[in-house]
Amino acid sequence: TAHFQVAIDGPASAGKSTIAKILATDLKYVYVDTGAMYRAITLAAKQAGLAYEDEAGIVALLPKLEIAFLPGEPVQHVLLNGQEVTEEIRSTEITNNVSLVSSYQAVRADLVDRQRALTAKQPVIMDGRDIGTTVLPDAQVKIFLIASVDERAERRFRENQAKGMNPDLEILKKEIEERDYKDSHRAISPLTKAEDALTVDTTGQSIDQVVATIKQII
Ligand code: C5P
Repeated sequence: TAHFQVAIDGPASAGKSTIAKILATDLKYVYVDTGAMYRAITLAAKQAGLAYEDEAGIVALLPKLEIAFLPGEPVQHVLLNGQEVTEEIRSTEITNNVSLVSSYQAVRADLVDRQRALTAKQPVIMDGRDIGTTVLPDAQVKIFLIASVDERAERRFRENQAKGMNPDLEILKKEIEERDYKDSHRAISPLTKAEDALTVDTTGQSIDQVVATIKQII
């Protein structure tokens, strides 16, 4: 007996997690941020002193890693083996290495199992890159969320400024494009729109407008 499933996929910084979290709160679904899980594994590699290229070493860590989400505002808390890593997994270093770590077959297999297990007991809204294509192929609603790269870089720029950083718009734009390229060109479950997904373009749209559009689709 499967519960209702909403899959939201799309490129980096398209607003997936912001939108998914609001929808989950309003609809009383569980929100699963799969990007945070890949980021947590990447951080675990760093904490273990492993090179991000060390596939075998990283895969050997997997059985000992516990990833948990706790409710929080404005973002949910991410715990790695009981330790709060919510901020740390969004650092520039982790962001720029997560695509490599998430390309490893055994890393993906491990996390896909964990993601599916989270759908057993409750309706979910899950965001990522391969949710509609691979993790939840039977999801009742599949959204492919996109926005122009300029607007995505500007959103990330403002976010980083609000965090007290001194971001460079052109560098952010390049990093976003590189991450999208790697995520779309890897061998295993690359970022791609599921055939039965609906594309929602958020360029020039407010968060409220996007939430309303997707609610109507649901
Ligand atoms: O969504 P977010 O930007 O936090 O995702 C971080 C990275 O995790 C992505 O760039 C991608 O490399 C990886 N990822 C993935 N599959 C998912 C979700 C994220 O490969 N379902």
